Amino acid sequence: MGKSSKDKRDAYYRLAKEQNWRARSAFKLIQIDEQFDLFAHSEPESVTRVVDLCAAPGSWSQVLSRVLIKGESFGRRAWEEKRRRELREGEEEEEEEQILLKPRKNVKIVAIDLQPMTPLEGITTLKADITHPSTIPLLLKALDPDAYPSSTSGSTSSTPSLRHPHPVDLVLSDGAPDVTGLHDLDIYIQSQLLYAALNLAIGVLRPGGKFVAKIFRGRDVDLIYAQLKTVFEKVSVAKPRSSRASSLEAFVVCEGFRPPVVVESEKQQGVESTSATTTTQGPDGLGLLSNPLFGGAASSSSPSSSSNQPIGIQTTSTSTMPNSRWIPPFIACGDLSAWDADASYELPPDYVSLDPVQPPTAPPYKKALERRREMGGMYGKTKGVVGE
Ligand SMILES: C[S@@+](CC[C@H](N)C(=O)[O-])C[C@H]1O[C@@H](n2cnc3c(N)ncnc32)[C@H](O)[C@@H]1O
Repeated sequence: MGKSSKDKRDAYYRLAKEQNWRARSAFKLIQIDEQFDLFAHSEPESVTRVVDLCAAPGSWSQVLSRVLIKGESFGRRAWEEKRRRELREGEEEEEEEQILLKPRKNVKIVAIDLQPMTPLEGITTLKADITHPSTIPLLLKALDPDAYPSSTSGSTSSTPSLRHPHPVDLVLSDGAPDVTGLHDLDIYIQSQLLYAALNLAIGVLRPGGKFVAKIFRGRDVDLIYAQLKTVFEKVSVAKPRSSRASSLEAFVVCEGFRPPVVVESEKQQGVESTSATTTTQGPDGLGLLSNPLFGGAASSSSPSSSSNQPIGIQTTSTSTMPNSRWIPPFIACGDLSAWDADASYELPPDYVSLDPVQPPTAPPYKKALERRREMGGMYGKTKGVVGE
């Protein structure tokens, strides 16, 4: 598909380039925020510490940086603020603008991705796999470099067993695997990313904090909802207008984090425990998850499990799961007047297509492109065969 053809078929792709976002996903976060006030700025709920998982190329981090560090507003909020200013006029207008654009204090944003990410001002970026246990100490150290000596980074054996001293207000995860086209497999891998993100979120969120993550609404997604409900007061499913209606993609928006209660006898075993029976009780009294960050072990249900196992959330036994599955509210986000992600729009005749703001730094197909170039471009191989 040509650049301008894509501009026509995907209004958010075009808008992202026009508004200097690295990816069209920026609009998804902005529209979810419009509905759920993710970036609340009034005390005591003020959001200043955020973790952005699976963040490359970085459009969500851009939104975080511009809202929290620079004090900008977007979407409906920006329109409402502009309208209010217009109604007030004069000196008051100037005064209010200053208040609205006031950057927040002590902002800390950590972004993680498997792919390298072009740096963004004010954001700590880490290249790491969120499903790997070694990412836990890396994240903790990035959040609070002074609290953790450098010797702890990269080592799971030194994972702190205490809760994080300066927890975060919001954890985001827009993680998506490279899609294979086999729906069940893609949905399964996606759910593993979600569990890894939740595992990290449980370790670093403050009580009352929020967690937003991409999901694909597959056959058994209601089980995931029920699991999320054990550690959050409120769980909703959001479908931003910039996410194609034809796609199974949606976002779980979890509010009111309730840190799971660690069973006393288990706590004494510490994080080095390799017990297969590590049990953490959720607020609902449900057997819940194992997480080294709050005193459980990143264990598997196999007795041979060790702390080198990939992070995964383990339900301790099927008998402890809720009897009936729970269905969260499904909420469409973004104004109805917003662009329709599934529609094609005519472009003006003099339209000039822009280049993407941030081309991928190390895409998985990079090697294939290099090899094709070595072979003489797209038709190189054919030429060779004909010439033989
Ligand atoms: C849809 S993109 C994220 C877009 C991003 N939110 C933005 O606004 O630019 C999904 C990202 O998930 C990352 N990802 C997939 N598996 C991962 C893993 N195990 N650990 C870290 N990142 C992962 C991919 O590298 C990819 O950059």
